[in-house]
Amino acid sequence: MIEISSVTKAFSGFRAIDNLSLHIRSGEYVALLGPNGAGKTTLVEMIEGLQKPDSGTIAVMGKTWKQNPAYLRNLMGISLQETRFIDKLTVGETLDLFGSFYGLGKGRSREVLQLIGLEEKGRSFTVNLSGGQRQKLALGIALLNQPPLLLLDEPTTGLDPNARRELWEILMTLKGQQRTTLILTTHYMEEAQYLCDRIVILDRGQILADGALSALLDSFAKGEIIELETSHPMPENTLQALPGLIEWSQEGTSKIKLTVTNITLTLPILLDKLRSLTIEAVAIECRKKTLDDLFVAMTGRRLNE
Ligand SMILES: Nc1ncnc2c1ncn2[C@@H]1O[C@H](COP(=O)(O)OP(=O)(O)OP(=O)(O)O)[C@@H](O)[C@H]1O
Ligand SMILES: [Mg+2]
Repeated sequence: MIEISSVTKAFSGFRAIDNLSLHIRSGEYVALLGPNGAGKTTLVEMIEGLQKPDSGTIAVMGKTWKQNPAYLRNLMGISLQETRFIDKLTVGETLDLFGSFYGLGKGRSREVLQLIGLEEKGRSFTVNLSGGQRQKLALGIALLNQPPLLLLDEPTTGLDPNARRELWEILMTLKGQQRTTLILTTHYMEEAQYLCDRIVILDRGQILADGALSALLDSFAKGEIIELETSHPMPENTLQALPGLIEWSQEGTSKIKLTVTNITLTLPILLDKLRSLTIEAVAIECRKKTLDDLFVAMTGRRLNE
């Protein structure tokens, strides 16, 4: 579906995208994940034909923007990182207007209105929509012509958890129909994990990791995590003798982070030791590794820093 080959894009000498290559197959749901300034928007906008690479090539369905702009415009549904609507048009009129660009009738606007769950707002001026409703309308516009390729730049940023879920469900319904390829940028790891089969982690204009979540975690971030806060410091030799311990680190005197092969193996022994040493566990958190751990392991920084 998309073939990006050795693409570089610089702004005043700063490489926002640095010699990046990426191949996306038809039907894939791909999340572009990365911190602020990683180059996500720049990359997506080059696929959308809104920005031009300085070097390298981008082909969508084998066609480039230079040769086939009309064809590619018909192929894509896009929502940008920020959307402004015409204030004095209603939601219904806005959908009608964008639909008319594709030669679609008002019937399609009503279908989309229902799909995005904004039926009740059809007659409201766009200026009066809430943030979440605006994001839904932006998605609705992207879906009008039933595009085989959907590019969404942070579609759920700023939404409350409910609205985010609703938007996810719309995208999951489309996924079930298997006619859409999705590229989505996000800061939310849960979003990438829930929606996408493939996760591409971008940092400083380059791809740091690319693959299915489980494969990424297996290859880069082995183990499970126990985070422990204790009333008194735990002796180092007790920690080192714990079964299944891969590594540990200390924060201050009473906070410890253990990486273990298997929480269920290590935790009971750890609790026994605490009891016998009459050290109180103020807080214990057990979890599997996440994409954030992976990002920290690769860059020393957190994804959302
Ligand atoms: N038009 C521009 N002029 C100058 N610099 C730019 C321009 N567009 C992007 N940049 C720079 O390129 C880098 C990548 O920006 P980009 O918007 O692609 O990041 P992003 O990953 O989308 O970040 P965010 O998560 O904040 O949206 C940033 O350092 C940004 O300042
Ligand atoms: Mg961006």
